[in-house]
Amino acid sequence: TTVLVLNGPNLGRLGSREPDVYGSADLVALRAMLEADAGDGTRIDLRQTDDEGELIGWLHEAVDSGTSVILNPAAFTHYSYGLRDAAAMVTKSGLLLVEVHLSNPHAREAFRHTSVISGVATGVIAGFGFDSYRLALDLVVRRSAE
Ligand code: DQA
Repeated sequence: TTVLVLNGPNLGRLGSREPDVYGSADLVALRAMLEADAGDGTRIDLRQTDDEGELIGWLHEAVDSGTSVILNPAAFTHYSYGLRDAAAMVTKSGLLLVEVHLSNPHAREAFRHTSVISGVATGVIAGFGFDSYRLALDLVVRRSAE
């Protein structure tokens, strides 16, 4: 099975972007970590975009290919109804969509306390850095085997 690990705007700058908040490791390191965690039967397809339309297209692709998704919507979390509607299609089709965040948005500025994605996600893991993704991968792999 393949797991899509989708990352929204500014996450391509991980490693140099606000390392006090997001740590000093980059997406290449994240991919390597997830690939090391994944069993032989699991392929990690990790992508990042700053473009809302591209991210929405990837969720359509997940629906069409029947692929579960780990999604860090980044700033789109807080205001993108288009992304929310696309995420709803994923979970309504019976696929898992785990919303992840490196930081704990609830411990930060007020505008980060709202997620328009969470209401249509299967669940949310936030505040554990790369471990947020690792926990999400563990869940997706375990549930896919059920
Ligand atoms: C983030 C939290 C968002 O509020 C922020 O806009 C991001 C990253 C996180 O992973 O902690 O870009 O999704």
